Amino acid sequence: WQMPAFIMALGYFLGSIPFGIILTRLGGAGDLRAIGSGNIGATNVLRTGRKGLAAATLLLDLGKGAAAVMLGEALLPGGGGAMAGVMAFIGHCYPVWLRFAGGKGVATMMGVCLALAWPVGLVFAAVWIGMLLLTRISSAGGMSAALSAPAAAMLGGRPELVIPCAAMAAVVLWRHRTNIARLIKGEEPRIGSKKA
Ligand code: G3P
Repeated sequence: WQMPAFIMALGYFLGSIPFGIILTRLGGAGDLRAIGSGNIGATNVLRTGRKGLAAATLLLDLGKGAAAVMLGEALLPGGGGAMAGVMAFIGHCYPVWLRFAGGKGVATMMGVCLALAWPVGLVFAAVWIGMLLLTRISSAGGMSAALSAPAAAMLGGRPELVIPCAAMAAVVLWRHRTNIARLIKGEEPRIGSKKA
């Protein structure tokens, strides 16, 4: 049991690194949690007006998910990757350093999917980009992409990934509950707008 426990802890701590907060602070762009939606993800970093910092946050939040999968799979082939990846996703959403008030999981889930099964990750990325172009609403893109992942795993012949993907998608929706309320009221801001 030591190896799975080690892999899960490794994944969690990797995922719990709040790159958005770190980069915003290092870049002198203030306290991310006092800006826009207060979320720690790339969308909210974009609301500081610093596109480079937002892009770096997206890549690093995605990268930590992918890195966790690769490390987990190397340490425990045939299952360690999914274990570490899901825990990295949980670490991002519920980091101990932020009293478990973390991000909404979209970028990290994308990284986990890409590293676990690139076709699933590709579907995720395509739905995300497509919905972003269509709606210009980050939360709509992220939630649609998350929901597409279990379906892509099923249709893509990776049934063992359906439950991990569905579990992550459920957490993504839960973390977006204030966004969902705003979407219903028609008050969710579009990308480029400063308020949230
Ligand atoms: O991934 C987070 C995004 O979907 C929503 O972020 O800051 O608009 O709540 P935000």
